[in-house]
Amino acid sequence: MPAALSISQEILKPHLEIQGGHTLSRELKVSGAKNSALVLMTSALLSEGPLELHNVPQLTDIQGMADILSSLGVRVKRSQETVWLQADDLHHAEPPYDLVNGLRASFFCIGPLLGRLGHAKVPLPGGCRIGARPVVEHIRGLKALGAMVKVEHGVVTASVPGTSRRLKGAAIVLDCPSVGATETILMASVLAEGTSTIENAAQEPEVQDLAKMLNAMGARVSGAGGPIITIEGVERLHGCNYSVIPDRIEAGTFLIAAAITRSIVRVSPVIPEHLNAVLQKLRDCGCTLEIDKQGITLIPGDLHGVDIITQPFPGFPTDLQAPFMALLTTAKGTSVVTEKIYENRMQHVAELQRMGASIRLQGNTAVVEGIPQLSAAPVSGNDLRAAAALVLAGLAARGISQVDGLNHLDRGYDGIETKLNASGAHILRHQPSG
Ligand code: UD1
Repeated sequence: MPAALSISQEILKPHLEIQGGHTLSRELKVSGAKNSALVLMTSALLSEGPLELHNVPQLTDIQGMADILSSLGVRVKRSQETVWLQADDLHHAEPPYDLVNGLRASFFCIGPLLGRLGHAKVPLPGGCRIGARPVVEHIRGLKALGAMVKVEHGVVTASVPGTSRRLKGAAIVLDCPSVGATETILMASVLAEGTSTIENAAQEPEVQDLAKMLNAMGARVSGAGGPIITIEGVERLHGCNYSVIPDRIEAGTFLIAAAITRSIVRVSPVIPEHLNAVLQKLRDCGCTLEIDKQGITLIPGDLHGVDIITQPFPGFPTDLQAPFMALLTTAKGTSVVTEKIYENRMQHVAELQRMGASIRLQGNTAVVEGIPQLSAAPVSGNDLRAAAALVLAGLAARGISQVDGLNHLDRGYDGIETKLNASGAHILRHQPSG
């Protein structure tokens, strides 16, 4: 929030009003993974058959993707956490800029459109608040598979030369293990002629989820979850029913919510192996974790600082850097948090400082000195995970905080205040009209 704005001006924006200091209890429910659901939805473009996706979170990004797919001719129906998609009448390979703008994941369409139709024209997703986020690796991979790719006037045009319209299997080595590039190349190569390999592939659980669903559609993908993925191209895929994995980032956020409020809470459903690096840091901080079949119960101790460095999976996820930093502001002693994935993902620092946090920022490294308690303030979440971090800080702070940036928060957290309130938090949503 610019310093010149007064609180009364600020609260005209949609915001959460959080009365801090309440202990949480019972259970926090985790929805399906946003980042999986988005890419799985675009896989519907690969087949004429119907795709029935379960455990899809109810988020603005999911609606954005549904709109983009509809614009291409995919029939889309949603009912609570189920989405039906059928691409038996694809009439368009160019999602319009006004729908694509603001939803980076829309670029995922390029791989399946190219694989299925042999051509695609997709606006470049552009950078975002947290960094430049190039797509050179995606484009290099598509070219290796035989596509002709042009980037002009902010639009990527890709086509498969020749009459067969089929991409050709190739050996691709990524310069960096990009999640999006791995997923784009994977979706493009499942319908290619021959075998493809992706070396230095991203190992994130969402890549594994995509490979698993593609195999359920008749693809032949092996090695996903490791650094080398092999894809034997097939001529066509069919529809399937599939359930999205639980959101590891939402689960991590809720475990941190328990820790920052010094509460005993069970978080479920969770696949613990998806969160190993985070669970280790929570234990290093002084939390005890009880892991059962479906969930994790966090029991807080006398918390002290730890050092965090974000890395590709299985390292500590960049998407939990800001939420974990909120926790460290109240943990005894010094913590050093280093962001290695994005060049501009420290915007929450200034907001946490407004809540009394003691943080020194040097480039992409933050040195946090824990204080006994944060104090409430009006703060602004400038990106999705920064907004989540500020909600967590608000839960622990003395007094009433106003957190804005709900347009970001609602992209990635399905009913966050409803879930937290059911567990004992006191959060009110203010959505001023006009
Ligand atoms: C995905 C996730 C996002 C998460 C990120 C890293 C989705 C929808 N989003 O984003 O929540 O924060 O993974 O875990 O799944 N890079 C290049 N060249 C490229 C591509 C990427 O240098 O061609 C760099 C990026 O600038 C960034 C890093 O690689 O520094 C990671 O990016 P990437 O793994 O591609 O992230 P996304 O797929 O965009």
